[in-house]
Amino acid sequence: MQHSFLEDPMKQLNRDAYAGFIRRHKKPKELRNASVLCMSGPEMSEVLALWDGLKVKRKNITSVEKGDDEYIELEERVAQEPEGQRIKTEKADILDFLRTTDKQFDFIFLDYCGMFDSDVRQAAYTISRRQLLKENGIVAINIREGREDLVKQSEYVLATEWFDSGITVSFDDIGTESYDIGALEEKLAREVIQEYEKHKKTAEENKDKLKEFRRTSLARTIIYGMFCGKIQTQMPELYPPELIEWTVKSVRKMYAKVNELTEGLLFKREPMFARAYAKNDVDTLMQHSWFMIQSQIAIINHFQKLGSNSNVFHYLEAKARRPYFLQDMECFRYTSQPGNSSMFGAIGLFDQRRDFFDENNIGFYFGKENGTLMIYNGDTRKAQREIKRAEERFYKKAQDRSRRRRGRNNGIVSREILDREIEGIKSRDLRRQGEYIRQYMQFYEAQLKHMETFIPNVRELRL
Ligand SMILES: C[S@@+](CC[C@H](N)C(=O)[O-])C[C@H]1O[C@@H](n2cnc3c(N)ncnc32)[C@H](O)[C@@H]1O
Repeated sequence: MQHSFLEDPMKQLNRDAYAGFIRRHKKPKELRNASVLCMSGPEMSEVLALWDGLKVKRKNITSVEKGDDEYIELEERVAQEPEGQRIKTEKADILDFLRTTDKQFDFIFLDYCGMFDSDVRQAAYTISRRQLLKENGIVAINIREGREDLVKQSEYVLATEWFDSGITVSFDDIGTESYDIGALEEKLAREVIQEYEKHKKTAEENKDKLKEFRRTSLARTIIYGMFCGKIQTQMPELYPPELIEWTVKSVRKMYAKVNELTEGLLFKREPMFARAYAKNDVDTLMQHSWFMIQSQIAIINHFQKLGSNSNVFHYLEAKARRPYFLQDMECFRYTSQPGNSSMFGAIGLFDQRRDFFDENNIGFYFGKENGTLMIYNGDTRKAQREIKRAEERFYKKAQDRSRRRRGRNNGIVSREILDREIEGIKSRDLRRQGEYIRQYMQFYEAQLKHMETFIPNVRELRL
């Protein structure tokens, strides 16, 4: 067998640091009922040395293991426990498990033995896309670092590029009619070349840059992956199949053009997407940030033409996409003892801010009229109830008033006055909704800003 994770004091320091983070955010009662997905290792070490101490029920823990021998060992270890004290085990690659499970977890801990690579990125996206983390859940990922070859280094670059100022297309830039695909292609081509130059420097001369990538890539990957939420095909009410089809075509065209403008650099730098382009693998193409940008531009233009408020669109889009927002994060670096490998770990707490999306507060929703996608303001049940109560209150008051002025109307209130007042109540309600959406947009923009500039503090763990 390989080295024992149970006997590595450095690994224990890392687990203790994670336990500290968890205790800061979760009450003992929440822990007792929490569900955990982890890669416990064949000795079940993570369960014994972390989750047991936090008093998480074993029956709520699922451990995934891909190694043949390791899985046999894990099963034997689990079988030694009394029946009520057994964790659940799954023989699978963790990414395959994430792609197929239909369970949600409070904690998702991915303790890889290998280096940062596209599987790690895919894991973060998959958790978010498939909504596998519960509200206020915690994700932790560990990887090995040091001695990365050029391919691994380019993974770092890819993971951080979204955070570099200039690479994101801001919605304010887009405008209604000013959106010019040729200009966007040129901008993207320039960025691809700049990124390539940066990468070349990283590999050849700029060792400090590599240090920075090591410090930021994993944390940023987790934050951005979690922020992505569902993809377009999971939101047919907003992105109908025709729009997806159009976006695939337009992203493919853009891909070919930018590749041409960069003299083949794009395909070289992004082999996964180059393959997807060649095979017209839509699922993979859709993971590209250009896809998200293109489809959003199309849909925002559509709503702007109909005169909709773009804040309302963003609010409804986020409601459908369900991103996870970072609340807190810590990063750790340590050197595992027996293996003497450099390890890096990041742990983050995520919240979907579902309080912002409470059905009772906002009555706007997407709908279709004669095949055209529209935004409606249908009053929510709560708003309806409020209006009804206010209506009754107003009617009673008006009746009393009328009775006091004896002789006039005899307590009968004119329908016209009543309607006018009700309109007033309804528009007050609209104002309240508008204020609420503005608050959400402020929160969302602050999150974006924070994400774009995020550089984690990294604690070095020492004995
Ligand atoms: C670093 S060890 C786990 C140590 C453990 N979490 C602890 O705290 O002691 C990683 C375990 O996950 C398994 N593993 C590595 N990569 C995996 C993957 N992609 N899918 C499933 N299991 C994997 C390894 O065989 C190993 O048993």
